[in-house]
Amino acid sequence: MQYDLLIHNIGQLILPKETTRPLKGEEMKQLNVKENAALAVKDGKIAWIGTNVEANHLQTKESFDAQQKVVSPGLVDPHTHLVFGGSREKELALKQAGVPYLEILANGGGILSTVEATRKATEEELYEKASFHLKRILSYGVTTLEAKSGYGLDPETELKQLKVVKKLNENYPISIISTFLGPHAIPPTYKGKETDFLEEMVQLLDTVSEEKLGEFADIFCETGVFTTEQSEYFLQKAKEKGFGLKIHADEIDSLGGTELAVKLGATSADHLVAASDEAITMLSNSNTVAVLLPGTTFYLGKDSYARARKMIDEGVAVALATDFNPGSCVTENLQFIMSLAALKLRMTPEEVWNAVTVNAAFAIGKGEEAGTLTIGQHANFVLWDIPNYMYLPYHFGVNHTNSVYVNGKKVWGRNDHV
Ligand code: NIG
Ligand code: FE
Repeated sequence: MQYDLLIHNIGQLILPKETTRPLKGEEMKQLNVKENAALAVKDGKIAWIGTNVEANHLQTKESFDAQQKVVSPGLVDPHTHLVFGGSREKELALKQAGVPYLEILANGGGILSTVEATRKATEEELYEKASFHLKRILSYGVTTLEAKSGYGLDPETELKQLKVVKKLNENYPISIISTFLGPHAIPPTYKGKETDFLEEMVQLLDTVSEEKLGEFADIFCETGVFTTEQSEYFLQKAKEKGFGLKIHADEIDSLGGTELAVKLGATSADHLVAASDEAITMLSNSNTVAVLLPGTTFYLGKDSYARARKMIDEGVAVALATDFNPGSCVTENLQFIMSLAALKLRMTPEEVWNAVTVNAAFAIGKGEEAGTLTIGQHANFVLWDIPNYMYLPYHFGVNHTNSVYVNGKKVWGRNDHV
């Protein structure tokens, strides 16, 4: 057989385990790292993996010397708020003055100020702005990501955001999974009529589903936003309508959103900084992935982070994400999140790599398509300018990507973007 592309002389090839469910607890410590390896691509798919010596016998149209670099699957970022209008740098001064995140929101700022800017922006403007962020996300080695709506809080703007996500997915090499987060905050016009608003969002699920604009439904379950009961009502409706479930749970206060996620069989429960001991036990007995967002804790200036060690030690499947958004975590850099996970969540390098590849893919229901380098799977991989896989979380705050390949084609290269 003649291959299309051979990447040879790979110093370390990171091969997360091929699995039919997310890696849980102890399993997250296993990471197959193949030294002096090579991989071959045919028709945009991974077609062969072996040693560098074995690769000498292969016939290929094109061949590339990795010069002992590290190669991994394309990273997966399973929680972002990619599409939004405006920015919120003015809130930084409020944060410095000690005004809590939920108080800024309660006073009509925070999410609600982004809602205003997103409602004002045209679809084209949102597309241009999100494209800019998306290209940066790709440069950090991410080839699959999730993007949420939630800055419209009305049918017109929510659909506008979701259409932008759809168009970005069609036009860019990154594969984007779309989530409807209509119940992200309560619009000021619905104060005291929260149930009416929730009902409107439940109705909107039908349009989102008919127009194939979202695979998942999500809700912000938090003090002053949506209660656990309201979250259950919305997510149950979404489940009946065929959506996969996600939830912003226990981010600031422990309300029981994590327990609800397990009860409803959610694909993921996200944030979990304040998740209770019982919630962690429940998670460990389920396949709901705990998506941890240490960048948000860092940016909100909190001292206590999600209890990743306890979760992993008790058998939970943990994934990591940026939570990229204009208010609580303003970074596209998943590599920085990997460093925070090592430093603040005390996750090992092996756990960190599994959390941004295989487990991140399961957190968005794409475990069989992304997050590993499996024969027959899309040839989405990254060459890294690092001497070994442990180096990445250690050297923080910079971009270690050398080049990014999607379907066997180079879509980003450091030397193409000096
Ligand atoms: O995941 N917590 C709710 N939603 C986002 C923040 C959105 C914003 O502040 O604009 C989050 O942190
Ligand atoms: Fe979020």
